[in-house]
Amino acid sequence: MTTAFIILAAGKGTRMQSDLPKVLHPIGGAPLLVHAMKSGAALEPERMVVVAGHGAEQVEAAAKDWNPDAQIVVQSEQLGTAHAVAQAAPALADFNGDAIVLYGDTPFITDTTLAAITAARLTHDIVILGFEAADPLRYGRLVMDGTTLTKIVEFKDADEATRAITLCNSGVVCADAATLFELVSAVGNDNAAGEYYLTDIIEIARQRGLTATAVTCDEAETQGIDSRAQLIAAEALFQSKARGALIEDGVTLLAPDTLYLSHDTVIGRDAVIEPNVVCGPGVTIETGARIRAFSHLEGCHVSRGAVIGPYARLRPGAELSENVKVGNFVEVKNAQIAEGAKVNHLSYVGDATIGAGSNVGAGVITCNYDGVFKHQTTIGENVFVGSNTMLVAPVKLGDDSMTASGSVITRDVPAGDLGVARARQDNKPGFARRMFEKLKKLKADKAKGS
Ligand code: UD1
Repeated sequence: MTTAFIILAAGKGTRMQSDLPKVLHPIGGAPLLVHAMKSGAALEPERMVVVAGHGAEQVEAAAKDWNPDAQIVVQSEQLGTAHAVAQAAPALADFNGDAIVLYGDTPFITDTTLAAITAARLTHDIVILGFEAADPLRYGRLVMDGTTLTKIVEFKDADEATRAITLCNSGVVCADAATLFELVSAVGNDNAAGEYYLTDIIEIARQRGLTATAVTCDEAETQGIDSRAQLIAAEALFQSKARGALIEDGVTLLAPDTLYLSHDTVIGRDAVIEPNVVCGPGVTIETGARIRAFSHLEGCHVSRGAVIGPYARLRPGAELSENVKVGNFVEVKNAQIAEGAKVNHLSYVGDATIGAGSNVGAGVITCNYDGVFKHQTTIGENVFVGSNTMLVAPVKLGDDSMTASGSVITRDVPAGDLGVARARQDNKPGFARRMFEKLKKLKADKAKGS
């Protein structure tokens, strides 16, 4: 079935106590809005319309960042959920298929639930997603007659008997797009809140001879985020689901509760992740790699058999080939490290390429920044970079070359050569002993005087 998502994201989110629009608060490193956009990816929606309002420019940027084809429409006044859906009508005027209304602050709707909704659409004109609420609070109530949904009554407008219903409205709606827009255009605002309720479409539809039903999901899935406390709980839920999925896929997590994952983290089977590892956005770790404790990764690719850390930092653009070793207190940024190369201790490798089989000694720094521009360091294959070498970029070390430790390398080192750039050592016979004696005597004299 051809599907369009309409994602409502115009609300301010006052309870977040934040200048950031509510839907841009992140879980797993991505805005809530992106989670909503990602949900139901399995349905491969042909169109995606985001209804923005508060902070519309920021919301638009975030939506387009995730999906450049997303269409943004602005609801400048928030007059209710039906009014919000109506704003998407012009954007979908040329669209034939089903529309599913989702919410920018509701990140956990699953593919399975959306598949159940589309399945129910085969037999009904409108499908609503409901849930059995443990504490129905102020949710809209679904009034059912067998499998038929007869109406949705908002809490504010409900009598005691209706408030006793525990089957609640999640807000998610699926219907043929043209039908949906026709129905929302007929919604009025004569109700307790003076808003255009999306929920009113059910009664209007039934008056027009259309059918409606509800499918249900777990309450946790439909949970919207309204406050910082709910955001924290949502982050915890996201993390535990993401870790669970990795474990299910055959990844070894030595201390799952201490692993932080992002919405797009990819980790291959039989990779081992030691305790206290952070995976920021854009991390791919291939099968069999090992990430040792206290490492921080973002925007990087770690290939099979590579060993990272403990205490390593991989920043965006770090591309590590098979069997690479990056050890403790090493930072790698925008650098390609070829197969089997090693950077084992206390180094900074930025804007660089390191050829296969090279060994970068302890304390080596690529001096990539001159205060204005960034420059490239190129290290060939099987190079031995001596400890504490400063590589002042732009600079190249040819294949099979070597640098003497402590060198400040400012010129290219040709293949097979040794680059030495440090002062020649001069030993002063007996100097140290004489100096110590002098200092010790001075100390003793001072102690006597005091
Ligand atoms: C809505 C439902 C209610 C359901 C509940 C589930 C209606 C009338 N009521 O109530 O039955 O139980 O969700 O959470 O639909 N929004 C806009 N523009 C608007 C109004 C809302 O974009 O003009 C967005 C908000 O940003 C929010 C979402 O729609 O993300 C829900 O709106 P809200 O006003 O919070 O609806 P509820 O009162 O929760």
